Amino acid sequence: MTFNSLINSHYGKTDLTGKILWHLKEKGIDLNHLSWEDLTSFDQFHGGQLKTTLWLAEETGLGSGMHVLDIGAGIGGCARVWCGKFGCKVVGVELAEEFCNAAQKLNSLVGMDDKISFIHGDIVEIDLPDDAFEVAMFVNTLMNIQDEASVFKKIYRSLKPGGRLAITTRTATPTTYDGFLYPCPWASDESTNFLSSPESTHSDLANAGFSDLLWNVKPGEKSSDPMPVSSEPSPFELIMDIDVPAMIRNNIINTRAGRLGSLRAVVIKEM
Ligand SMILES: C[S@@+](CC[C@H](N)C(=O)[O-])C[C@H]1O[C@@H](n2cnc3c(N)ncnc32)[C@H](O)[C@@H]1O
Repeated sequence: MTFNSLINSHYGKTDLTGKILWHLKEKGIDLNHLSWEDLTSFDQFHGGQLKTTLWLAEETGLGSGMHVLDIGAGIGGCARVWCGKFGCKVVGVELAEEFCNAAQKLNSLVGMDDKISFIHGDIVEIDLPDDAFEVAMFVNTLMNIQDEASVFKKIYRSLKPGGRLAITTRTATPTTYDGFLYPCPWASDESTNFLSSPESTHSDLANAGFSDLLWNVKPGEKSSDPMPVSSEPSPFELIMDIDVPAMIRNNIINTRAGRLGSLRAVVIKEM
């Protein structure tokens, strides 16, 4: 299988758009008066949910009219928040076709299709315009990127001088691949799991030309605290076809075994 088909089978859900519209109708939401706020209970496709999306906006200084590149944009949840709350124009790059279709339909229903555009493609392969964006975001996408070094160079070129790149990601630890459990949130097996250590990501960013503004690493740590239990169904159940409870359980076990760290970073293309 190609990388493209592996990503599409992990993330894609057949007729995702139809299922989301059905879900909204079941909740009694009038699709003729839909707002981006009606969608945030399920369209923020990362662990930190809306809180992290807003944190990214603050850390990168998002403001009205700014052009944002969202890499691995999912179903457009972050893009609609940055557009609706901060007045940005967003270009999303997304490899999963069902996600692109759902994003475009939701953007249109909330009246944002003139402010948000989606490119269906692989960030590794597509061309980006030079000096085009004030901000680029990698929200829990880097774990699927094998050749970080060349992607960071591409993003550096596409940012305007003074532009910022923000990253939230899970990271590799020295014991990541000792019994790593699948499915995990970003991969059904090892073929699309490309975790990097924070040191390797830092060196690839520096080689691309970026300077640090914020570098916050949480190293992998073993924990024997009781497993957290949630009675709430995960919002990811609506958008993924894979076994979501198993995926969440594996993610907790991998984290507690010290196989996963995390990184939050903001870097800048100096003037
Ligand atoms: C965990 S989801 C995060 C989605 C979104 N950033 C959010 O937070 O709502 C990761 C996304 O990255 C996309 N992706 C992974 N590798 C990609 C690549 N090489 N090019 C473009 N998109 C990619 C996946 O299809 C998936 O939608």
